[in-house]
Order: sequence, then structure tokens, then C-alpha cells
Amino acid sequence: MKLALAGYGKMGHEVEAAAKSRGHEIVAIFDIDKMLSPESLKSYAPDAVIDFTQPDTVVTNVRVCTKAHVPMVIGTTGWDSDVLKVRKMIGDADLGCVIGSNFSIGVNLFLKIVADASRLLSVADYDVYITEAHHRTKKDFPSGTALRISEAVLSGFKSKTKIVAQLKQGEAPSPESILISSIRSGSITGTHTVGFDSEEDAIELTHRAKSRRGFALGAVHAAEWIAGRKGFYRFEEHLTEILGDNS
Ligand SMILES: NC(=O)c1ccc[n+]([C@@H]2O[C@H](COP(=O)([O-])OP(=O)(O)OC[C@H]3O[C@@H](n4cnc5c(N)ncnc54)[C@H](O)[C@@H]3O)[C@@H](O)[C@H]2O)c1
Repeated sequence: MKLALAGYGKMGHEVEAAAKSRGHEIVAIFDIDKMLSPESLKSYAPDAVIDFTQPDTVVTNVRVCTKAHVPMVIGTTGWDSDVLKVRKMIGDADLGCVIGSNFSIGVNLFLKIVADASRLLSVADYDVYITEAHHRTKKDFPSGTALRISEAVLSGFKSKTKIVAQLKQGEAPSPESILISSIRSGSITGTHTVGFDSEEDAIELTHRAKSRRGFALGAVHAAEWIAGRKGFYRFEEHLTEILGDNS
């Protein structure tokens, strides 16, 4: 496959290596010194663009890809408020797009474990918390993965109905809310914990990413899957098909 990269930072470099390891060619690399445009995309004619840039760039890049009619895989996080807009843009252009706040296969299986655990533990008297830790250059909080984890908890845990990511001085979280706490330090790749706490005991589930390679491989699998397809997909909802088609 011919792939183009939007964003050549930490993830862009990992995606390049993962794509080459699966026999693909990187035909173009775009970053702030060489911005994505419909003309340049058309000239390189990639089968898909893989975007790992920054939140306020995503809508512009989607616009460019729809004009050039090139399918997309979007790994950039922190643009949840624009998801409906992007879905419409992709639909109107009759294009294919896979988005994912976490392209790691392990994290997506972790989400299923969290949903099952939440359903099981919902019958007992537990409180729930989520913590996420990332390197200090990460720009969004809470992480997109922490938000997906909170959705998995809310899907199964009956007494919790909302999430809180920030508290004011003097404010305590309400009993029906789940507090997500964020750590930004050093070079942590990504650690997410869900804790269930009662007066009698505590249960913690943790996913710890050891490198960025897992995210990059998932994004490349998604690019292989979306080329030639139409529609707007979330990686976590199509994980089995995506891996099945590309194993
Ligand atoms: N979905 C996942 O699995 C996953 C995994 C890791 C990181 N991320 C997300 O991916 C994004 C990138 O992460 P990173 O660690 O590579 O960040 P990074 O800061 O190392 O790299 C981002 C790159 O994008 C470039 N960029 C910024 N604006 C641009 C523009 N308008 N056009 C083209 N390039 C532009 C920057 O110059 C930089 O090289 C973040 O949103 C991060 O949260 C997602």
C-alpha cells in the first residue's frame, strides 16, 4: 500500500516503522514545514492518510482529504467535540475513515474487560475512580482512552452516571460521578487504571503501554482495512474485523 503521514512526531515516526515492517511504502510525510493540501495529496496518490497531529488540526486535514478523496485513519486525540462534524464531512464525501483514541489492541481488549468487570461489580457497594498517566508533552486531558474507559464503566456500573475531570477547591465529587485524574510527567507512554473501592477491599485494573509500537501497528491495520471502504468507523467497534482482515 502507498501511505501518507500527517504529523511526523513521536507517533508519525512509529507509524512509518510499523508500515514499513508490514511491507507498505510511505509516499509522503506532512508536518508543519510541509502542510497537507489537496494538490499535494493528489500528486502523491496515497491509498490512505494516517493522521497523528494535534487536536486543532484534524478538521482541516479531514477537509483536505475529502477534497483529494483519500481515506483517513485518525489517531490524533482531543477533538471529541468535532466528531459529528467530521462524520458528516466523511459521509458527504462518500469516503472511508477510521478514528481511534487508542489504536492499541491491548487497550481495546482492556475496554471489554472493564465493561464486564463494571457489570459484575455494580451489584456490590464499590466506588469507582480512573487515573491516567502520560508524558509531559501530551496536550489534551483527560486522555481519549480515559474517556473511552469511563464510557465502558458507565455502560455497566448502575450507580455511576457521569464523569468529572476537574474539581474546584472545596468541591468533592458527587456519589454518582467518576473522577478521572490525570498525571503528566516525564516520558510515560500511557498508563490507565480503573479502581473499585469499598470499605472492605479494593480492586484495580491497569493497562500499561510499554512503547508506542502497539498504537502504530493498530493504525496501520486500520489503514489496510479502510482502503477501498466507505463510511465512518471507530477502531474499537471494528477491532475484530480489522484484525481478521489483516492477520
Ligand atoms: N490513537 C492513539 O492510539 C494514539 C497514541 C498516541 C498518541 N496519540 C495522539 O496522537 C497525537 C500525536 O501524538 P505524538 O505523540 O506523535 O505528538 P508529537 O507532538 O510528537 O507529534 C505531533 C506532530 O504533528 C505535527 N503537526 C502539528 N500541527 C500540524 C499540522 N497542522 N499539519 C501537519 N503536522 C502538524 C507537529 O509538528 C508534530 O511533528 C496526539 O493527539 C496524541 O494524543 C494517539
